[in-house]
Amino acid sequence: MRSVEWEAGAVKMIDQRALPWKLEYVRLETVEAVAESIANMTVRGAPAIGASAAFGMALAARQSPATTVEALIDDLRQYGELLNAARPTAVNLAWAVKRLLQIAESGEFNSVDDLREVLLMAAQQVADDDVAINRRIGAWGSSLIDQGATVLHHCNTGALATVDYGTALGVIRAAHEAGTDFHVLLDETRPRLQGSRLSAWELEQLGVSYDIIPDTAAGYYMQNSEVNLILVGADRVAANGDFANKIGTYQLAIMAAAHSIPFYSVAPTSTIDLSLKTGADIPIELRDPAEVTTPYGNPIVPTHFKARNPAFDVSPHRYLSGIVTENGIARPPFSESLRRAVAGDRV
Ligand code: MRU
Repeated sequence: MRSVEWEAGAVKMIDQRALPWKLEYVRLETVEAVAESIANMTVRGAPAIGASAAFGMALAARQSPATTVEALIDDLRQYGELLNAARPTAVNLAWAVKRLLQIAESGEFNSVDDLREVLLMAAQQVADDDVAINRRIGAWGSSLIDQGATVLHHCNTGALATVDYGTALGVIRAAHEAGTDFHVLLDETRPRLQGSRLSAWELEQLGVSYDIIPDTAAGYYMQNSEVNLILVGADRVAANGDFANKIGTYQLAIMAAAHSIPFYSVAPTSTIDLSLKTGADIPIELRDPAEVTTPYGNPIVPTHFKARNPAFDVSPHRYLSGIVTENGIARPPFSESLRRAVAGDRV
């Protein structure tokens, strides 16, 4: 199962808004439709957004009527801005757009057809690399899960949040595939419920033992010594190891420290943004308050009640035991280990 892929001249993706009730796919034939699908969370999760943006750029190249390479590059820059504006926090989106633009701007193309072809191959590579990277992440991280452990997980970081296999949930999957017997507590992850809707759907299929818990119960289980390890994803990691992830991660980080529970973020190096010194510079997406009052169109309070809906928060690096990447587990001091991981060195 791939959350997003190229199929016959269009971008095909799982409509994650319909899960766990229905497994439905959408077929997107314009870059505008891809940008809209990222913004409305048809596709979500940092690496899945990155791959979608890469395919969006390949689609944009075909959609553009340009007849010269220069004109096509101009169009691609504009389409890149459209995609970048879809969601601000996950750096994988901007990373993928930049990667395809840099190829276009390399000066190596004499014809628009060549450039279109190479951009599609590059997007395909982003998607294929993601799956291979996640398997490497899983191999490094699986040893963190002990036999009989209980692992707390937030949001959805599985196959759906990536092209396939997952990051933090990929570590859980790798440990399960290695035969480790353990249990997972899934934060339901208000307001969009990625934990109960998506992570539980994935663990059902994998046969991993789990229970959904209300986000507000995480502290209860930690206090009762029922959590041995906390694994979360990341949407953007700053050079010092501060990281943005789904709203609610920060309170988990503090509670993990209060109870001396190992707390790891799991992310590919494409999620690490060395251009930002600290997490204070990470842009935080503020989403529609209606997602809080009326999740998935179902009002839980009168719709005129006031609400706020920050989609991410930033956890300071001091709470992290490590960051699991495809190049190994980065440990403090992160300013050193993350730089090496991004350079491709084993950490
Ligand atoms: O708003 P979402 O569902 O896109 O947020 C997803 C997360 O916060 C994930 O933890 C993160 O993107 C990593 S996914 C491998």
